[in-house]
Amino acid sequence: MNILVTGSNGQLGSEFEDLAVSYPDYSFFFTDKDQLDATDQEQIKKFLKKNSIGCIINCVGYTAVDRAEDDQAQATLLNATAAKYLAAASAKSGALMIHVSTDYVFDGKQNRPYTEGDTANPKTVYGKTKLDGEIEVIFNAKRALIIRTSWLFSAHGLNFVKTVINKAQTEDELRVVFDQVGTPTYASDLARAILDIIPKVPPRVRAEIYNYSNEGVASWYDLAKAVIDLKQFDCRVVPILSKDINSKAQRPLYSLLDKSKIKRDFGLEIPHWMDSLRECIALL
Ligand SMILES: NC(=O)c1ccc[n+]([C@@H]2O[C@H](COP(=O)([O-])OP(=O)(O)OC[C@H]3O[C@@H](n4cnc5c(N)ncnc54)[C@H](OP(=O)(O)O)[C@@H]3O)[C@@H](O)[C@H]2O)c1
Repeated sequence: MNILVTGSNGQLGSEFEDLAVSYPDYSFFFTDKDQLDATDQEQIKKFLKKNSIGCIINCVGYTAVDRAEDDQAQATLLNATAAKYLAAASAKSGALMIHVSTDYVFDGKQNRPYTEGDTANPKTVYGKTKLDGEIEVIFNAKRALIIRTSWLFSAHGLNFVKTVINKAQTEDELRVVFDQVGTPTYASDLARAILDIIPKVPPRVRAEIYNYSNEGVASWYDLAKAVIDLKQFDCRVVPILSKDINSKAQRPLYSLLDKSKIKRDFGLEIPHWMDSLRECIALL
């Protein structure tokens, strides 16, 4: 099968490139905006046809959560319009569409893990445009999976784990929120799960939502502390409340994802975030 990975220079897209050699049955086409602009509908249609693409994995996104608050047009273009164009093109060509979404579609007011059936109620521009993207996929694709994930970290791209490592080398103390709770997800684990799922997707699937994160629970404070302990940095981590920082976007305080459905339907075993963090840190 020919697989198109869009947004392939980002942190998740890069993980697919790393894994490609382990999946010799797939032929990969890795594209970022210079090779295939996901906001150019004609270019997408031509690309799918020319390369007989059987599956699109959409890793394009506007992921700067605070910046999105003042940049709704661009966030909409990348998170919703691009998803619509890719979904519509996949429907026309018969390709399976795998679209990556986020825990930030939820408002975080729940106190038990979110299932796929729970009502989305995003509070940020990022979350709203990602929910719009999901709706575009549901309306425009014929065969799609929407995979909601959370708190990605990786040796590639920009992410919280790498920020902590950089800051802890020059600062004695890091102040990190402990009242936002979720699950960190190693982008490599997510990429592997997606590649393992593809051959198991039923031919008649319409547009099915699945949650995927690593196992376990953490606050951003816990994650920062784990990174610093693993790296053995001499840096104190101080827990603070979200209200004590001046962030533009109001992130959900609780965004744990229930992964029962993806584990049941595809027989996945999901690593704990701490084990995957150890693996990632060894690369940094
Ligand atoms: N990061 C997280 O913690 C997180 C959590 C939950 C869900 N997700 C979702 O997971 C997906 C992947 O996230 P990520 O962290 O890998 O994002 P990322 O690192 O920001 O990667 C996105 C990639 O898309 C590229 N891109 C931008 N405009 C494009 C265009 N017009 N055409 C083609 N490519 C374009 C970006 O290029 P430039 O950088 O050069 O613009 C970048 O390489 C996104 O859908 C995101 O919403 C992420």
